[in-house]
Amino acid sequence: MAEPLLDAEEIAALESRVGQSLATGSTEGLDVLGYGEITLVVGWPTGSPRVAAKRLPPFADDSAAQRYGALVGEYIEALADRGIEPVRSEWVTTPTDDGEIAGYVVQPVLPGECLGMNIVTGGGPSVAAGLPAAVLERVASSVDPRFGLDAQVSNWAMVDGSLRYFDVTTPMLCDAAGRTRLDLGLLTAPLPAALRPVARRWIAPGIVASYHRPRDVAVDLIGNLLKERAGHLIDGAIDEANRWAMPPITRGEIDRWYRSNARLWELMLRLRRAEWWWQRHVRRRNPAFLLPGPISR
Ligand SMILES: Nc1ncnc2c1ncn2[C@@H]1O[C@H](COP(=O)(O)OP(=O)(O)OP(=O)(O)O)[C@@H](O)[C@H]1O
Ligand SMILES: [Mg+2]
Repeated sequence: MAEPLLDAEEIAALESRVGQSLATGSTEGLDVLGYGEITLVVGWPTGSPRVAAKRLPPFADDSAAQRYGALVGEYIEALADRGIEPVRSEWVTTPTDDGEIAGYVVQPVLPGECLGMNIVTGGGPSVAAGLPAAVLERVASSVDPRFGLDAQVSNWAMVDGSLRYFDVTTPMLCDAAGRTRLDLGLLTAPLPAALRPVARRWIAPGIVASYHRPRDVAVDLIGNLLKERAGHLIDGAIDEANRWAMPPITRGEIDRWYRSNARLWELMLRLRRAEWWWQRHVRRRNPAFLLPGPISR
């Protein structure tokens, strides 16, 4: 068996360093590779990262963390079964300072030029257009009521000429009755406490369900090209998707999707900022997440 990507000592050191950033609210000295809606992605060790470590909101106990890790493992198998090659990913856990359990998905760090969002803006015209086209093919042949996928270009990489998927931290699998196996509480964790039950019951299920519908996944991927500053690839990607999307996707639909989505994520960010401020200044606790700076949309 290959050596694990991080040993127990390194995981503890990483968590302690992340804990410091959570306590100060500053990411200085930490190599933040990405702020997800749910996960914080850190390059480790700082300075010359070998791995990308994706920290989920802390789990109450070890068995909850292990269950989540097992679901991530199943999702990685489901990806491979459906012809989508996942980036090597390992699940590791370590106690937090507060006595909870931090769970991380750990992957080898991929060079910038391999990342989908850099390919669509920086690759030559045919390479750039080839990425959404290849992703749309995977969407058509894999997404169904049991298996969901977040196909945005920021979740893919090209390694040695082949397409790889790396956003495995939200394993979207449903059981035979069509219920998501993902803990929806995780999706609402960074929201203000008063909103969580409402979001969990009325908003999160609809969002998760849309990742199980190939046409919706395609609209999300194509609309997101605007945010990635690759709007010139949209018309070509619509043509690709319309080989199978029914009813056909239109440019007007993509533009409307983008406007309403930009508003939704902006609102989410404001709510997370409010929750961060509340935890820090009113509850006088360390918020369990870090905030990204301003995002241009
Ligand atoms: N293995 C990796 N190597 C280099 N950079 C990575 C790697 N994994 C993730 N990143 C960077 O971090 C960003 C976010 O990672 P990822 O898509 O896995 O999680 P996420 O979108 O934050 O997850 P979610 O929104 O589901 O919480 C990526 O878009 C990429 O820029
Ligand atoms: Mg992502």
